[in-house]
Amino acid sequence: MSIAFFDSGIGGLTVLREAARRLPDEDFLFFADTLHVPYGPKTKEQVTEYVCEAAERIFGENVKALVIACNTATSVAVSDLRHAYRVPVIGMEPAVKPAVEMNGASGRRVLVLATQLTLSQTKYMQLVSRVDDHGIVDSLPMPELVDYCEGLNFDPEEVGGYFRRKFEPFDLNEYGTIVLGCTHYPYYTRMLEDILPPHIRVIDGSAGTVRRVSAILGERGIEGGGSGRVRFMNSADDPAYNRKLERAWAILNDEKRPNGAR
Ligand code: DGL
Repeated sequence: MSIAFFDSGIGGLTVLREAARRLPDEDFLFFADTLHVPYGPKTKEQVTEYVCEAAERIFGENVKALVIACNTATSVAVSDLRHAYRVPVIGMEPAVKPAVEMNGASGRRVLVLATQLTLSQTKYMQLVSRVDDHGIVDSLPMPELVDYCEGLNFDPEEVGGYFRRKFEPFDLNEYGTIVLGCTHYPYYTRMLEDILPPHIRVIDGSAGTVRRVSAILGERGIEGGGSGRVRFMNSADDPAYNRKLERAWAILNDEKRPNGAR
């Protein structure tokens, strides 16, 4: 049986990469909601409906756990899915807590990049108010970044210029950590590290999510039994999109990646 990973598009592959490295004895199914990507600019109701439809299809496959490798989908639909299915459902949230912990002593601020929908949800606001005792967390939506990513656009001029414009209103010397709160964004970690002042750390939630997956499989005694196989599916059953997933997967796993892609 496989562990299913789900995202609106290619973003969730950044989490799958971490899982494939940490859990070599598992098989994986990756499902992209090609029909509805991007989720960020849509309403909570729309995205909840898309995620529930996708889950129906995914649970029709032979899967033992579902990882919602998408911060936006998690923030609107994780509790609905947990109520509807007995199979463990693991969600993601922006890594605000580790970022706040890292910056406590330095007095530097934290900037969370995520989709508009994630940042506008009560779940995100509650997370921030739970961990941000000293008011050091700021948030910045990056609406165009998912489109660049889905277009496999890693052009340092074009996307780098976009980042520079977005960061213009901020005094980056005040910031110690940037949190990538959308699973599409880690494709640009290396580009961001080149653009940002060297003292800023760029972190994402993949490692924490995979640790949680591993713990849950262990608790349920359902770990292992696979050999690292990865199978791609998409909601449009579009072979061309599956080929794009394969390309994106190869880019992510190529240590000598060109174009600043990570
Ligand atoms: N990759 C997703 C996330 O983590 C969603 C991006 C989108 O579809 O807008 O938030």
